[in-house]
Order: sequence, then structure tokens, then C-alpha cells
Amino acid sequence: MTIQRFVRESRTFKASHVLPPDTNNHDTLFGGRLMAHIDDVAAISAMKHARGPVVTASTDSVDFLQPIRVDNEVALEAFVTWTHNTSMEVFVKIVAEDLLTGIRTVCATSFLTFVAIGEDGRPTPVPKVVPETEEEKFLHDGAEKRAEKRKVRRKDNKHLADMLGTRRPWEP
Ligand SMILES: CC(C)(COP(=O)(O)OP(=O)(O)OC[C@H]1O[C@@H](n2cnc3c(N)ncnc32)[C@H](O)[C@@H]1OP(=O)(O)O)[C@@H](O)C(=O)NCCC(=O)NCCS
Repeated sequence: MTIQRFVRESRTFKASHVLPPDTNNHDTLFGGRLMAHIDDVAAISAMKHARGPVVTASTDSVDFLQPIRVDNEVALEAFVTWTHNTSMEVFVKIVAEDLLTGIRTVCATSFLTFVAIGEDGRPTPVPKVVPETEEEKFLHDGAEKRAEKRKVRRKDNKHLADMLGTRRPWEP
């Protein structure tokens, strides 16, 4: 197996024309539709790095900084910023472009974690990632801290899931 890959090898772009029925009553893109685009482009990027199947382990957050209006282009750019053993951090930048004026706005950003899955259905090691540009190095350098926060969040959420259980409100 290749033991390392450059960040650029996982760079993935996806653009769509924002049109109904993907818009809400404010004539802006549904948040859920944007999240589906984010997961899709990020998964492609993770697969390019792993060159195998992956699953989404978590999404840190999606901050909707600006609305994405009907008739805009929504363009997403994703790349692997950091890897550990079997997991990969993917960064996604979402830019809206007014197709009549050409004005572009960064509308959202997101970090996701994907895990590579081997033939046995279990997590499997991924190649290390090598950053080259200033932006790639900046994101790579901050990744370990973000991964630590995710570990804590995962533990807390597991505890919460155990506390909540699966019984429905109307069941005895
Ligand atoms: C993600 C998943 C494969 C992890 O499997 P697991 O048996 O718990 O494996 P481990 O605890 O050994 O974790 C494996 C890796 O995943 C990472 N990981 C697991 N859960 C994570 C989370 N919530 N956030 C970030 N990383 C996570 C671990 O840190 C570890 O990384 P490393 O190997 O690089 O150190 C498993 O929880 C799963 O299948 N979840 C459902 C995924 C899914 O259905 N996604 C949506 C559809 S694609």
C-alpha cells in the first residue's frame, strides 16, 4: 500500500445550480440539502485518499455563515487535511456565486471525519497525508487539537446514548 499521499490528490469539487425544489420558503438552499452535498463531496475526497470504501464517523459542525440564494451556483471544495490510523479529517469549503454578477461568498465551512473500511468490514489503515500549501499546512497543524475534542465528544455522546435507551414514550 502507498504509505503517503499529498493533500492535492484528494481535492474534490462539486458545483450545483440552486433551484427549487432544493430551496425553502425564503428562496434559499435547504440546510439539509447543503449537508447532503457536504457529506457527498467529503466522502469522495476521503475515498480518493484511502482508495477504498469509507464511512462518515462524524461531522464537527456546519456553520451557515450566509444564505445561499435561488439561482446561485453553490460550489464545494473538499480535501483530506489530516490522518491518524484508520481515520481521515476532511475539510469542506462552501462558496456561493451570484451567476449574474460573479460575486462569490464563503457561505459555510465544515470538518468531517471518515473511517476507511476493509474487506472484513472493520476499520483499516489509511496512507499518511502530506500538506504542501500554506492553507494545507495551517489546517493540518490544527487537526490534532480538533481530533482530541472529537474524542471527548464521542465519549460524552456514547454516555448520553446509554442513558437515553431505546424505549418509545408510549411503551411501558
Ligand atoms: C465509525 C466506525 C466505523 C468506528 O468503528 P469502531 O469499531 O468504533 O472503531 P474504533 O473505535 O477503533 O475507531 C476507528 C477510528 O475511527 C475513529 N472514530 C470513531 N468514531 C469517531 C467519531 N465519532 N468521530 C471521529 N472519529 C471517530 C477513531 O478515532 C479511530 O480512528 P484512528 O483509527 O485513526 O485512531 C463505526 O462506529 C461505524 O460504523 N459507525 C457508523 C458509520 C455510519 O453508518 N456512517 C453513516 C453512513 S456512511
